[in-house]
Amino acid sequence: MNRPHNSIMVIFGASGDLTKKKLIPSLFELYKQELLCDDFAILGVSRTKFTDDQFRQNIIEAVIKYSESKEIDKDLLKNFAANAYYLPINTEEVRDYMLLKEKLDELNALKVTHGNFIYYLATPPQLYETIVSNLGVYNLQDTPDEHGSKKIIIEKPFGFDYESARKLNGHLHDIFNENQIYRIDHYLGKETVQNVLVLRFANGIFEPMWNRNFIDHIEITSSEFIGVEGRGGYYEGSGALRDMIQNHMLQIVGFIAMEPPSSFRANAVRNETLKVFQSLRHIKEEEVEKYAVRGQYTESLIRGEKIPGYREEKGVAPDSRIETFAAIKFFIDNWRWGGVPFYIRAGKRLPTRVTEVVIHFKKTPHHLFSTDNAEQTVNQLIIRIQPDEGILLKIGLKQPGAGYKIQNVNMDFHYSDISEVELPPAYGRLLLDCMLADSTLYARGDAVEECWRFVDPILNQWKENKEIKIYGYPAGTWGPMESFDLFENSKSEWRYPCKNLTDDGLYCEL
Ligand code: BG6
Repeated sequence: MNRPHNSIMVIFGASGDLTKKKLIPSLFELYKQELLCDDFAILGVSRTKFTDDQFRQNIIEAVIKYSESKEIDKDLLKNFAANAYYLPINTEEVRDYMLLKEKLDELNALKVTHGNFIYYLATPPQLYETIVSNLGVYNLQDTPDEHGSKKIIIEKPFGFDYESARKLNGHLHDIFNENQIYRIDHYLGKETVQNVLVLRFANGIFEPMWNRNFIDHIEITSSEFIGVEGRGGYYEGSGALRDMIQNHMLQIVGFIAMEPPSSFRANAVRNETLKVFQSLRHIKEEEVEKYAVRGQYTESLIRGEKIPGYREEKGVAPDSRIETFAAIKFFIDNWRWGGVPFYIRAGKRLPTRVTEVVIHFKKTPHHLFSTDNAEQTVNQLIIRIQPDEGILLKIGLKQPGAGYKIQNVNMDFHYSDISEVELPPAYGRLLLDCMLADSTLYARGDAVEECWRFVDPILNQWKENKEIKIYGYPAGTWGPMESFDLFENSKSEWRYPCKNLTDDGLYCEL
């Protein structure tokens, strides 16, 4: 495993939640596994007036509170935090970037980082353009000598529709080259999402069947048990389609549907996912009601506990029409997928936390075993992204005894069976890739724009057309029943990974 060159990671928004909950614990994990460079520094930047020591103390507390590691070596953690520095500036004030430049020069000499700087924008998206411009004013994006590299990592949302995404990309490109820009989508950092590529392209048995001749339809579910968790203000400007489908779920579609790349180089892989996004059949505005369903969770009682509805959440308008559940049906217009429907749903306050892809294979052309349940035989490949990460193949086999009664059985693989090691956190993997200048698992600007182009007509209709209903669903259930109407005339329906919480216990079977 390569180790990255010495570098400084500058975190804008260093006093915020993302830094505490994700970035710092992930960087510590890399440090613990000795995957970071020999000499590195974290430079926290934000308006809050911390000293270096206070910032280091915050880092220690963040790792203790949010790290997924079961055991934390306190001495190691102290050594890790000693590499952190802090600069209180107003990121909207261009003159303050002079202070940033001086601080970077100082740390660069101290840590021998050869001008390798990574800027992480963990700030509200409204600040992206200002920060990028201000970095440009002091040429902090420049790589004047052959050693120093400057990279910028940007968090989602990358825009809120196609036009704003294009504008943001244009602005970034005014200052940085595309190969310096890393748009992070933490789903691509998940071990099981990467495993989709290995499953498909390292095995000879799946690829011949991975097409319209053998696959009936594909279903992807992202279900969250939690609600908006105090982020009502953010969510009111977003909704499930923007928050989960435009990015995370379409990126999974990209990996599931892409053609084999000619190599595993970043652009070879990303060119193929781009082609998938370019082939998505756009839903016409007048057909949005037929192909997209939205819902919003309402108050309910789960195991005796009252769960508030979305409209009762802090920061949410009492008459909000923002969807906490979205389901869509669409097609990919290319040779491989012509006529195969894809169904995606994502929602909050569903019965459990689960993300999975279900490949539904076609039925046999002729039913040889004319027993009662021959029709029911299912061949499904379930790729469980989280939790209980693994893969399951459902097939029909003969029940022991007289006659030919067929029973569906499972062949399954769980990550936990092959590895004692906890799966690495998605952010850790992606941060390391960026340090190694590998952008394979980062979203490219053109792909992000294509994904917005695809969801824009749905967003427009949901905003403008007051006749399109938003259905209520009790918290703890699988969203509005209307989402089943997407399967019109077909014998299929969504797979239930577990029952409704309102009428059963929490049980999630792979
Ligand atoms: C984020 C969304 O991008 O992904 C959140 O903004 C969502 O609303 C989260 O909860 C889900 O991520 P994960 O890794 O928990 O599935």
